[in-house]
Amino acid sequence: MGCSLDQLLKSIMEILWFSVVNRAQYNVTIHWHGVRQLRTGWADGPEFVTQCPIRPGGKYTYRFTIQGQEGTLWWHAHSSWLRATVYGALIIHPRQGSSYPFPQPKRETPIILGEWWNANPIDVVREATRTGGAPNVSDAYTINGQPGDLYNCSAQDTVIVPIDSGETNLLRVINAAMNQPLFFTVANHKLTVVGADASYVKPFTTTVLMLGPGQTTDVLISGDQQSSRYYMAARAYQSAQNAAFDNTTTTAILEYKSAPCAAKNCSGSKPIMPPLPAYNDTATVTAFSNSFRSRDKVLVPTDIDENLFFAVGLGLNNCPPNFNKASQCQGPNGTRFTASMNNVSFQLPSTFSLLQAHQLRVPGVFTTDFPAKPPVQFDYTGNVSRSLWQPVPGTKVYKLKYGSRVQLVLQDTSIVTPENHPIHLHGYDFYIIAEGFGNFNPQTDTSKFNLVDPPLRNTVGVPVNGWAVIRFVADNPGVWLMHCHLDVHITWGLAMAFLVENGVGELQSLESPPADLPPC
Ligand code: C2O
Repeated sequence: MGCSLDQLLKSIMEILWFSVVNRAQYNVTIHWHGVRQLRTGWADGPEFVTQCPIRPGGKYTYRFTIQGQEGTLWWHAHSSWLRATVYGALIIHPRQGSSYPFPQPKRETPIILGEWWNANPIDVVREATRTGGAPNVSDAYTINGQPGDLYNCSAQDTVIVPIDSGETNLLRVINAAMNQPLFFTVANHKLTVVGADASYVKPFTTTVLMLGPGQTTDVLISGDQQSSRYYMAARAYQSAQNAAFDNTTTTAILEYKSAPCAAKNCSGSKPIMPPLPAYNDTATVTAFSNSFRSRDKVLVPTDIDENLFFAVGLGLNNCPPNFNKASQCQGPNGTRFTASMNNVSFQLPSTFSLLQAHQLRVPGVFTTDFPAKPPVQFDYTGNVSRSLWQPVPGTKVYKLKYGSRVQLVLQDTSIVTPENHPIHLHGYDFYIIAEGFGNFNPQTDTSKFNLVDPPLRNTVGVPVNGWAVIRFVADNPGVWLMHCHLDVHITWGLAMAFLVENGVGELQSLESPPADLPPC
């Protein structure tokens, strides 16, 4: 392959290097959520999937490039529940010399929605794992790390987002919450959605966003209202019935620069509060997610090599005989919570990462028999087979041939509770070609497929009591985790991994492992 020194230097300069030094007392890894990681699977980051953890005192340099993505992504720890506090925005601007496909905004502001416990989140998940019950719900949500002044004693802890009359501000909204899809809205202002998950969309206007954990949405907001102060607010979209959740509201303040009162000591005049949808307002969520279209016509694979159907949902394990019923089986009716895809409850390995085990051909770390469909015909409105309630633990991957065209139906099982599951695929963007409610019907629901301009995402909210169909081409070799981005569901096993084989030729195969890859 010939290339000039110039080109070589340019390509070297475009490699991002992130050196991570672990000064914490926990193992850690960092995941670059939504980055395609083309051929650089060693930099993806999920613990025991693409690398072993960086031990306390250890370090690792993540090296990767950004190719063809523009907009908002983010990074977060991918080890236990550390991402509750270890996260940030990863913003990809247009290349120098090119511009946004919309008028240049005057300002840009990341809006990172988080979730906070008045406890160490590691203790929260350890406790849940020990008892088998649901984890404690969080105590607050945050915007850019601050709860906002609706919480007690938090008047000083409110983020101010500036705007002025006639200006446009590009808000890059990220849901980094652990376990909760969130609504987001701004009083008196319309939001024009222009992108999601680092892909542009056909602009559309709304008053409220819904983001599942993992998702990002870029919106333009115009300073076209009276010069004043307005709350922006986020709170739960709770699709699971009868499950406890954090029903508090986090706020920031959109403040016109010419507004008469300065940000922090603005006693007396409360900002204007926006209405928020009801916690279980699935109709609003559906209308919002149906509004997404790719900005351009796109190349959705029309022929399919792999036609997969994954049933995703929770389960309940009977109390194992050697467990203490009272203290270790605190799920419903003396059970322990579990979760699965196609009846397999995913277990992380602990001796090698899946990717290392694959490359070094270490036997016994994983098996390649992840099923292409559930073990029994799936119908949640019928008598759901008991076997699906008690999934089998396993470390199973599904093998995809390099270059194969994949269609995947994701179906909420509605076992234990129907729920909207934000399913995230590492290493890929995928087209969401259809969504619907009830059981996916392969005869009739194909008429709903959008093969013209479906949105390209890395996380899809599988509708509560419903399904979503995604398509992608397996053009990135490596081992790629797919999981529910509600962290408690990963803890319970709602995950699997694709193993995409190397293609033939240099640009189709995974790079060799970096020398500083943390030892297992
Ligand atoms: Cu944002 Cu596997 O995660």
